[in-house]
Amino acid sequence: MTDKLMIAGGRPLRGTVTISGAKNSAVALIPAALLAETTVVLDNLPDISDVAIYAELLEELGARVHYADGQMTIDPSGLRSKPLPNGNVKKLRASYYLMGALLGRFGEALIGMPGGCNFEPRPIDQHIKGFEALGATVENEHGSIHITSKSLQGAKIYLDVASVGATINIMLASARASGVTIIENAAKEPEIIDVATLLSSMGAKIKGAGTETIRIQGVKEMHGCRHSIIPDRIQAGTYMIAAAATSGDVLVDNVIPKHMEALTAKLQEMGAHVYEMDEAIRVVGQPEYAHIDVKALVYPGFATDLQSPMTSLLTRGNGVSILTDYVYSSRFKHVPELQRMGANIRVEGRSAIIQKSALNGAKVRATDLRAGASLFVAGLMVPNGGVTEITGYEYIRRGYDLLTDNLSRLGAEVWLERE
Ligand code: EPU
Repeated sequence: MTDKLMIAGGRPLRGTVTISGAKNSAVALIPAALLAETTVVLDNLPDISDVAIYAELLEELGARVHYADGQMTIDPSGLRSKPLPNGNVKKLRASYYLMGALLGRFGEALIGMPGGCNFEPRPIDQHIKGFEALGATVENEHGSIHITSKSLQGAKIYLDVASVGATINIMLASARASGVTIIENAAKEPEIIDVATLLSSMGAKIKGAGTETIRIQGVKEMHGCRHSIIPDRIQAGTYMIAAAATSGDVLVDNVIPKHMEALTAKLQEMGAHVYEMDEAIRVVGQPEYAHIDVKALVYPGFATDLQSPMTSLLTRGNGVSILTDYVYSSRFKHVPELQRMGANIRVEGRSAIIQKSALNGAKVRATDLRAGASLFVAGLMVPNGGVTEITGYEYIRRGYDLLTDNLSRLGAEVWLERE
């Protein structure tokens, strides 16, 4: 049985919301723990399905995992290399990090092609190019990627695209390789720094994470440690957008304001008031907004993961706003659903052209996680208690823990119904 998310819109969000740990860090940090010989403890994990699935994957590989109250203890002493062609690996996209982690630890990995949010074809050629540069052989066997290597040797790797996944996967594979690996045109997202921080606490030697050149000096052994995950900047950004979109007043707590700069600048350009504190951001919405243009880019540009909820807010801009996604060319599956809610949006190439429009309640479907975020923000914006019914809630749950609790506490009228 699945749930659908119901929203009676029109209430401004008011109050405080506390952000949990970052999903896209968590799904890399958990497999990274496999490189250690002793126990790793991860704190501040979000309570989302991807984390629970990853815990099961580690258990399948022989690790002992204890997971409760946002803390995961991973004892890798019983760990063994095992093919994972099907099952849980198909349920989440980030299972591809098992390739780098198992290759780094055992010199071998067989992982089914990852599943997860497939809002457009998402190739992994740069991950594979990295593994091959380190001396591994990569073969596609009946839909699984089989990677083997007798001994991994550090190398210089230039990424054709600054891919988050490829950067992290190469860091994982090379942390215990012989010699030095240099990743050029590396991605600079905060989650990469988080992974490098964990690996360094485990004994790895990594310099330059967060810049476009990362240098990894391989080490023979890595050990356990305790690590606390950074706050989820996409969750935080979604609540900031929702606060502006409902003309509300929300304190978003447990954020790193620096991670939010591109969004903060765009909200201010529209006319929202945004106040940065040490570890919190307050967004005070306004009755009217200016139209603006947004370009989704790699970090520190505007995050592609926030362009879908931003699309909903832009329907309030006075005039025509243009939102262009330079990371994914066709991440616009939320647009036809927003159109059902009355939004006047047209997609041209990799841009959405958004006119000011009044939204109405409708039955809509979330086809991926961030498309879902766009729809619940739109649902909150519908005036006078108009009801929006969102199916595909299982996607939304993958990235927004405590969503209905958080929104209710902020004064929204939201509830779940059995589909
Ligand atoms: N790309 C390639 N070849 C590759 C890898 C990527 O051409 O081998 C391209 C992609 O097609 C895309 C661009 O490079 O156009 C960037 O992709 P990237 O590899 O950076 O994305 P990812 O690592 O697969 C992560 C997040 C995504 C987020 C993107 C971009 C995780 C688990 N996922 O994906 O998050 O959209 O970075 O910031 O970290 C989400 O949270 O909803 C989500 C999809």
